[in-house]
Amino acid sequence: MANRKLPDGNDGPSIRHRTKLEIRLPERADVFDQDSEYCSVLLDGEWRRMRFHDYDRIFAVPGLYEQLFHDILDCRSPDVVGKLLKEQIQQDGVTASSLRVLDLGAGNGLVGEQLRTVGAGFLVGVDILPEAKQAALRDRPEVYDDYHVADLTALSPAEHDTLLACRFNALSCVAALGYADIPPRAFRAAFNLVADGGWIAFTIKDRFLSDDDTSGFARLITACRDAGVLHVRATERYRHRLDVRGNPLHYVALVGTKQADIGEELLP
Ligand SMILES: C[S@@+](CC[C@H](N)C(=O)[O-])C[C@H]1O[C@@H](n2cnc3c(N)ncnc32)[C@H](O)[C@@H]1O
Repeated sequence: MANRKLPDGNDGPSIRHRTKLEIRLPERADVFDQDSEYCSVLLDGEWRRMRFHDYDRIFAVPGLYEQLFHDILDCRSPDVVGKLLKEQIQQDGVTASSLRVLDLGAGNGLVGEQLRTVGAGFLVGVDILPEAKQAALRDRPEVYDDYHVADLTALSPAEHDTLLACRFNALSCVAALGYADIPPRAFRAAFNLVADGGWIAFTIKDRFLSDDDTSGFARLITACRDAGVLHVRATERYRHRLDVRGNPLHYVALVGTKQADIGEELLP
């Protein structure tokens, strides 16, 4: 492609993709925290800069999420959590088709697709963004039995009843906890929609489970374990994806079982 100038004057590498989206990563990405990463995408003849966390804008462009995070930055999270969950249910002789999963922070459905591959029988997506639901219905209309745009920290009684009636026995939440995304209170609300004994499968940046955590999840997960609310069955630290400089970003995938609701007092 012609080597156009990025809006900031950088000439980053240009990637021509099979669906003809052209995406550039910033060349001088010297100071980026994961939270401020961005790329530039050629749309209608103009380079548009998109922050990675501007999911509404990313989901609005068909194929951009997959090309950026999966093809270019080699995101592995849906595969890793799917494999870990599958191993654990198999150990217990649970058939995947019995899983009734609430997929929190479902985005455009890549995790749902993976869970269908594992064999999940019933799958409901929840995301705070209408653009995520639109993208899931546009790109993977067959994956979810239902998909709700909702803020789990502010569910109406009707929304709560609708979700409760789904009789979830599993929760998945991939690459969506912490930062300005899903806070501990929303995770708690989703966790409490799952039946006791149900499966909990999530991924989270490794730092958010460490002493340096600022997201509140390190304290929440520790408190849940200590209180016997969450029984951890398996954890795996893995490379979630590359950052814009090509360095690995490590996450932890955790699969466990719910023993009881998370009480208000366990929130950080
Ligand atoms: C990195 S994407 C992950 C999407 C999907 N889980 C995946 O792995 O492909 C994060 C998703 O979390 C959603 N999200 C952020 N904050 C949320 C909240 N408070 N409640 C529900 N979803 C939220 C975003 O809209 C976005 O779709």
